[in-house]
Amino acid sequence: MKIPNKIKIANLPTPLEQLRFRNKRFLVKRDDYTGTDYSGNKIRKLEYLLYQAKRNGTEIVFTCGATQSNHCRATVAAAASLGIKTKLFLWGSDSDSADGNLFLSKLYGAKISFLNKKNYLNVNEIMEEEGDQLLKKGRKVYIIPEGGSTALGIWGYIHFINELKKQIDLKKIKGILCASGTGGTAAGLLVGAAINKLNLNIYTANVLYPKEKLQKKIMFLTEGVIRGYDLSCKIDDSKLIIIDGYSNEGYKNINSDKLKLINAVASETGMLLDPTYTGKAFNAYYDQFLLKGNGNKVIFLHTGGLFGAFSKRKKYLKNLL
Ligand SMILES: Cc1ncc(COP(=O)(O)O)c(C=O)c1O
Repeated sequence: MKIPNKIKIANLPTPLEQLRFRNKRFLVKRDDYTGTDYSGNKIRKLEYLLYQAKRNGTEIVFTCGATQSNHCRATVAAAASLGIKTKLFLWGSDSDSADGNLFLSKLYGAKISFLNKKNYLNVNEIMEEEGDQLLKKGRKVYIIPEGGSTALGIWGYIHFINELKKQIDLKKIKGILCASGTGGTAAGLLVGAAINKLNLNIYTANVLYPKEKLQKKIMFLTEGVIRGYDLSCKIDDSKLIIIDGYSNEGYKNINSDKLKLINAVASETGMLLDPTYTGKAFNAYYDQFLLKGNGNKVIFLHTGGLFGAFSKRKKYLKNLL
């Protein structure tokens, strides 16, 4: 097994907490505490990716996502801390009142190209072409695909299992539930559990892609890391359980019932959930596990995303307050 190197940026280990909501206890792994600037799951992947970028003498990192991408904001902040510039290729448009992650990405000094939905479909080619042009001029570019979900990036969540097993006896735990966008977090958890021979279910709420597409992406990532790093483990695909139907309103939207649960969790536990990922995943967790009294058997993985709340504040104010 070849274990790649990483750079230390995130505040790890993150705490594993037990909270109580509506008189039911549950376990939550607080990856929203990985750091203020880097907050959330993406920094675990970036520790591996930016180690490689730094070692290659990179001057500028290219990456992509939606205008409120947490991955993009975390990349710009983390790259800045290493003296590397970032250019973002964002799906959406600019605005005078840029808020949340977009505002922060600008503040951390990102250059930004805005792409409409159709052009964004070719974002990888667009980044590569522009990267090639800079390369011809002798500039060193490092391209990070959407969400940092590559065979290298997902080591962040393979390593996460080693961290978690020092905090709790994972043999007594049935599973871990997280939100999925590009699928790298869930893929890393699956591989980490397999390497450690743990019988864990990885439950995930798909917020971006349809269930079948996400399933393929996650399995493709697990195969890539197993092949690329000579891992001897096998992935049992029945351990990946995609909980569908918690983002029917669309990736960039959230309905008022889900907002009400976010509000109730915040006011009862002091834990904030975001409107794009963790708020939807927690709705799934609440229905499937917490209501049934299984909050100590299945760990809720809080993957961060909190700055996204600011971009939705008008909707919050209309629905809640
Ligand atoms: C806050 C948050 N949670 C979960 C995810 C999903 O992670 P992944 O893309 O690895 O599936 C993302 C990013 O997509 C995110 O920003």
